[in-house]
Amino acid sequence: MRKPVRIAPSILAADFANLGKEVTAISEAGADYIHLDVMDGHFVPNISFGPTVIKSLRNYTDKVFDCHLMISPVDPFIPEFVTAGADIITLHQEAGAHLHRSIQLVKSYGKKVGVSLNPATPASTLELVMDEVDLVLVMSVNPGFGGQKFIPSQLDKIRTLRSMIDETGRDIDLQVDGGINVETAPLAIEAGADLLVAGSAAFKGGPDHYAANIKALLGRS
Ligand code: DX5
Ligand code: ZN
Repeated sequence: MRKPVRIAPSILAADFANLGKEVTAISEAGADYIHLDVMDGHFVPNISFGPTVIKSLRNYTDKVFDCHLMISPVDPFIPEFVTAGADIITLHQEAGAHLHRSIQLVKSYGKKVGVSLNPATPASTLELVMDEVDLVLVMSVNPGFGGQKFIPSQLDKIRTLRSMIDETGRDIDLQVDGGINVETAPLAIEAGADLLVAGSAAFKGGPDHYAANIKALLGRS
């Protein structure tokens, strides 16, 4: 049975001068997870924030901290994200040569583990780790920046991953990230996604609009 669709707003689109308040506001507005985009200026052409900021934000919400690590190497930094309060640690399939080892490392800390695929990486690269993961993240833009346009070819990949997940019979979130708005969210959901990341579309208009933004993305307005 399909899980209800949930939303993980990305604070990349929040007001960085008021991050604590922003995290509280988006939590109260109906966020299920808080999506934390970590960028290193090496794996992706942008730098965002790291574990110190995440640790400070832990005081502002009880929501699940969904950490999307766009960093390479990733393994040496996992302990710091665990200490910072991450609940789910998602790393990129493309971030290193030893995906299976990285997955085991996250699991060794008792945390949930996700694997993310860049737009050019096929679903089949996850066949041999489906029994290990708690979340699969389909990047529907090239990672690095908020506010980009949804890449439609990723819908077929979501469909393929939906079948792969269903075949396992395991509880695996199928997350989509990038260019999600009121037009693209229904397409991603129809293809099988059950966890939407939204940056610009969730935070647009400021705190008074967050609840309405989230409802609209979930098709409940
Ligand atoms: C991109 C990030 C996304 C991004 C989404 O590298 O992983 O989470 O912030 O932003 P929007 O929703 O604006 O495309
Ligand atoms: Zn992300």
